[in-house]
Amino acid sequence: MRIAIGSDHGGFPLYRSVMEEVARLGHEPVGVNPQETIQPGDDYPDYAVLIGARIQQRDCERGILICGSGVGAAVAANKMVGIRAGLCHDTYSAHQGVEHDDINVLCLGARVIGIELALELVRAFVNAKFTGEERHRRRLEKILKIEIGAGR
Ligand code: RB5
Repeated sequence: MRIAIGSDHGGFPLYRSVMEEVARLGHEPVGVNPQETIQPGDDYPDYAVLIGARIQQRDCERGILICGSGVGAAVAANKMVGIRAGLCHDTYSAHQGVEHDDINVLCLGARVIGIELALELVRAFVNAKFTGEERHRRRLEKILKIEIGAGR
């Protein structure tokens, strides 16, 4: 699968390693950062939009978005229609978020976790599949209603 990967300056220390890990897992990393070097003044919402657009256009199936804490990345990405982003710093959430909640973007905080945990999280996220069970679909349909303003 094609996986869009992006980071602001806060997430940049993990950017290359995450790209390499996705390739090592047999998937295609699609780097969205316009430059190959750290950009000290850049803003995480810009990368959220680049990744979200790839998913919305079906150019990529999933994304990995890295900032300093992962919080801003998740907030920004979740504003986009069809994007379900999870900030996961434990491996259970990284795979269960896909299996139950069908998250399509993994958010990571490079100032919070180290490289080895980050790569374990990438593996858990990439290898996980949505179960498709009725109860999980039902919950996703409710989220879709919230997204289109018909949630209540
Ligand atoms: C950037 O300095 C930092 O604020 C950002 O990467 C992120 O941590 C926001 O959630």
